Amino acid sequence: MVKLLTMLFIAYLLGAIPSGMWVGKLFFHKDIRQEGSGNIGTTNTYRVLGRTAGTAVMALDILKGALASGQVAFFGAPMIHGWPVNGLLIGLAAILGNTYSVFDGFKGGKAVATSAGILAGYNFPFFLFASAIFASLVYLSSMVSVASMGAMTIITFTSLLLHDGILTTVAFILTLFIFYRHRANIDRIMARTENLVPFGCYYHY
Ligand code: G3P
Repeated sequence: MVKLLTMLFIAYLLGAIPSGMWVGKLFFHKDIRQEGSGNIGTTNTYRVLGRTAGTAVMALDILKGALASGQVAFFGAPMIHGWPVNGLLIGLAAILGNTYSVFDGFKGGKAVATSAGILAGYNFPFFLFASAIFASLVYLSSMVSVASMGAMTIITFTSLLLHDGILTTVAFILTLFIFYRHRANIDRIMARTENLVPFGCYYHY
């Protein structure tokens, strides 16, 4: 039990690292929470601080998720009543950290890159597949929010092919949570005012 709690705590702290906020403050002397969509994730970092900062924040956010779920590969799975605890379940603590960060007044991001990260630390080939779906949807819609929600939904359904009940359950929970965190984006999509990214097919409303 001590091992499980320690891993959950480490996962939460990793997830809580507000990469976008810190990169903005440290290297650009800007608070990205005050600009663009106000989110501290990859998309808003790219929007406000540019491609290099956006790419760095995406890599950091994926890495923190991967380290959180990948702890079981490094240290072995903690056991509960003789059952090994799945790395994805430990990774969920990183999602909580990302969205309710102790370093950001218990606010935070929209859980997209960190979710991709916990998938990367658990099943890397499936992460690559998920990334291809995401990139395709960004290209087709020019809206990262649509790609985030769409890719998570598709990933949940395609995970059924792997016959991994925990993966499908966690993917389903993350899909619901990611939709919940994108409430403002959904309002903007309905109002046809969602921010577009300057690549991919230009999306005409
Ligand atoms: O990862 C968040 C993305 O799906 C949307 O970001 O800044 O456009 O709200 P943003």
